[in-house]
Amino acid sequence: MNVLPRFPEGFLWGTATSAYQIEGGVNEDGRGASIWDSFCAEPGRIKNGDTGEVACDHYHRWPRDVELMADLGVNAYRFSVAWPRIQPEGRGPADARGLDFYERLVDALAERGIAPALTLYHWDLPQALQDGGGWMNRDTAHRFAEYAALVADRLGDRVPLWITLNEPFVHMTEGYGLGVHAPGEALLLDALPAAHHLLLGHGLAVPALRERTRGQVAITNNYSPVWTAGDSAADHAAATAFDALQNRLFTDPVLLGRYPDLSAFGVTELPFVQDGDLATISAPLDRIGVNYYSPTSVGAPRSLARPGGPSVLSEVQDRLEAAGMPFEDAPIEGYPVTAFDWPVVPDGLRELLTQLRDRYGDGLPPILITENGCSVRDEPARPDQERIDYLDGHLRALHQAIEAGVDVRGYFVWSLLDNFEWAEGFDQRFGLVHVDFTTQVRTPKASYHWLRDQLQAQR
Ligand code: FCB
Repeated sequence: MNVLPRFPEGFLWGTATSAYQIEGGVNEDGRGASIWDSFCAEPGRIKNGDTGEVACDHYHRWPRDVELMADLGVNAYRFSVAWPRIQPEGRGPADARGLDFYERLVDALAERGIAPALTLYHWDLPQALQDGGGWMNRDTAHRFAEYAALVADRLGDRVPLWITLNEPFVHMTEGYGLGVHAPGEALLLDALPAAHHLLLGHGLAVPALRERTRGQVAITNNYSPVWTAGDSAADHAAATAFDALQNRLFTDPVLLGRYPDLSAFGVTELPFVQDGDLATISAPLDRIGVNYYSPTSVGAPRSLARPGGPSVLSEVQDRLEAAGMPFEDAPIEGYPVTAFDWPVVPDGLRELLTQLRDRYGDGLPPILITENGCSVRDEPARPDQERIDYLDGHLRALHQAIEAGVDVRGYFVWSLLDNFEWAEGFDQRFGLVHVDFTTQVRTPKASYHWLRDQLQAQR
């Protein structure tokens, strides 16, 4: 094993999961329905008709999963709370049974020296709120702050890190813009109010948390360095437009108190923004969560730059083009790819982190890498070398960013367990630990042993 360079004192080393992807137990202890239960029930939405009904059965097997983390030697664990376990209908008093479950988990982690990093919202909105419009309805932001308060009333004294939202960009674009995730709305840019209400929910939750916990408060966004395919002015404009959407839409309002320029999308007014909203959204944070998987390459849309060019466009790309999006995805060639076909570009992490530092300067809170990892095809038949190489490469790139002066305080591998990978069902395996979804047997993979050795070497 090539030992990794030394990371700073007090660095958080963790694994990450989310409620709907691992818990199962969807009908237990009064849990209400979430938009993912409904979405999975619609034929054709999820590969192989998979659902999160049982997933990794973590709701029952969590003590084993905590043991796996203790043996791995991590000192932090990022998980999410299922809102419908706390408020089955998305409003009203908390169901104590839901809070009890997370309290037991948090206490078991603490006993083993594993710091809980709690994400309040990893996409599993109570269906009852979706029936009222979901995140398209401003009221959902207020409901979210109430829910945050209920969780913090119980766990505020023992959770040191609170993450309000996970990847609102993906939730908005895939869930409300393109309809490939729950709740399955395909509103394209008409989904922008959902973006604003997610941000407002975040902003309203911050003071609710501050009143109830001395723990740190953060938001997690996913970022992708944007590479320009082609050299024309139109290509550069396309890259700038995409960057605003992917990397700035959910970060500029939080860190700068203003929205990025969306005029390339024909958006010049945001009528759903009310006075005071941006002040609420830009409440100071203690940490910023960064999820990184791969860079994106975009150029001008074919209709602008490549008239009559060959079409290998995916259905989604076709829809984007039909909707007049000012960019088009271009393939990134010359890199290995994961089972998801995502290019493996470790240096993209360094690039992204130095860009964030340059872009936001002193306004950038210390960073936590709240997700990074890869899916590998045909497991467990294949050895786990691809995942080891992925983690090794990204951790070295991360170390370079730290050496270059970026303040990064922790790294969480996505994911502890193979799990329910949204629209891909159980087809994409991201775990350090293999899960047999028939028997629920957990088997640590080679990458788990590799990480355990690396963590030992860091001590
Ligand atoms: C991120 C999600 C996470 C998981 C990984 C692979 O976008 O936050 O739940 O699906 O991708």
